[in-house]
Amino acid sequence: MSQSSSAPATGSTSPLALSLPVRFRVNGQAVSLDLDPRVSLLDALREHLGLTGTKKGCDHGQCGACTVLVNGVRMNSCLSLAVMHSGDEVTTIEGLGTPDDLHPLQAAFVAHDGYQCGYCTPGQICSAVGMLDELGRGVPSHVTPDLNAARFSREEIRERLSGNICRCAAYPNIIDAVTEVYETEVSGGERP
Ligand code: FES
Ligand code: FES
Repeated sequence: MSQSSSAPATGSTSPLALSLPVRFRVNGQAVSLDLDPRVSLLDALREHLGLTGTKKGCDHGQCGACTVLVNGVRMNSCLSLAVMHSGDEVTTIEGLGTPDDLHPLQAAFVAHDGYQCGYCTPGQICSAVGMLDELGRGVPSHVTPDLNAARFSREEIRERLSGNICRCAAYPNIIDAVTEVYETEVSGGERP
């Protein structure tokens, strides 16, 4: 049986070693980077901009730890290339609140003990921001009974945040936190 005789790669310079410009806004600030086109949005945020609030859990789109908002829509930043985001507005956990001025969801997670190790928390909160916006726009989910009338419920939260894994299993408290924000910030006091 003959063996393949393909020649081994030689030289140290990859033909793909090039960089492309990315001009976008991150947390309200104009940002200009020149990046290898293979760099993910997650790595651009963490490694190039030092925004380490966004976490890398699986790097494969399976845990939700890397969730950020792009033009207000939640997204797994590990599954998106940074060079695809020229002109976009990216919001990370650092852009939602500060230690002295917490976003309502951040305050609710603290009040309801919605985390233990906290590693999943930035992604959970960014995802919850996007989820509440989706519900407000009437976007149905897999568990919405009437596709023309999406309503807030604990089942809707569970389904819509099911892409955000918490290995500490703080799920009941996370649902309590999101419910409180819905009641106080979104619905004007209406209970789900
Ligand atoms: S790090 Fe992106 S989904 Fe897990
Ligand atoms: S609080 Fe630890 S992974 Fe969620």
